[in-house]
Amino acid sequence: MKLIKTKDYAELSRKAANIIAAQITLKPDCLLGLATGSSPVGTYENLVSMYEKGDLDFSQVKSVNLDEYVGLDGSNDQSYRYFMNHHLFEKVNIDMANTHVPDGTNLDNAKCCDAYNALLKEMGTVDLQLLGIGPNGHIGFNEPDDHFEQLTHCVDLTNETIQANKRFFASEADVPRQAYSMGIGNIMSAKMILLVANGKNKAKALAAAINGPVTPQCPASILQFHPNVVIIADEEALSEL
Ligand code: F6R
Repeated sequence: MKLIKTKDYAELSRKAANIIAAQITLKPDCLLGLATGSSPVGTYENLVSMYEKGDLDFSQVKSVNLDEYVGLDGSNDQSYRYFMNHHLFEKVNIDMANTHVPDGTNLDNAKCCDAYNALLKEMGTVDLQLLGIGPNGHIGFNEPDDHFEQLTHCVDLTNETIQANKRFFASEADVPRQAYSMGIGNIMSAKMILLVANGKNKAKALAAAINGPVTPQCPASILQFHPNVVIIADEEALSEL
């Protein structure tokens, strides 16, 4: 596990974008695993600006996203499909047909998860998986549990996650109670994992993920078993380490 400490979010975002840019430059048709939430917003901004300067070409890049809220379609501004379109896909020359997010409009949980697992298999190995981390140690929407879920599954969001994510919605009642998420097995099969974390509210989870026991009670702790993980975190997020 490689740990890169940055003084603030801006530096974190530049460094994370540089690593993703290097991946795209080295392998223009790479498969990226992408995350949403507030943590990667700055990373995506930097990638967009590299693209605008002519330094990055997304024309052959393919992507698979970690997760999506059940019940939200891509036109809903809280859906993860909307987030990805808005923060990255519509601002670079990626082929939309090469971008994939679980289908939140498919309310048949088993069918939706099976379809996404089949898609992941067909797409092949993710070259670089970008992750954030929840204040409870979740990655994707793999919430603390008594076991690690391997494949894409439907998750009942914990109250902690609903509280953490309600800031994006008009009210707490509007936060969907379920999400589709890649499993830990899907995430761990990526060749490289890049986790970005900023802010004090991530400090406990990050310390547990890096130094604590590997346990499904802190899903991110499984990353200790991955051979190629880079964590970029600011001083606040590393304050409990
Ligand atoms: C989002 C995702 C989540 C977030 C996590 C942190 O696709 O998979 O695991 O990375 O909830 O969210 P933020 O970055 O908003 O603190």
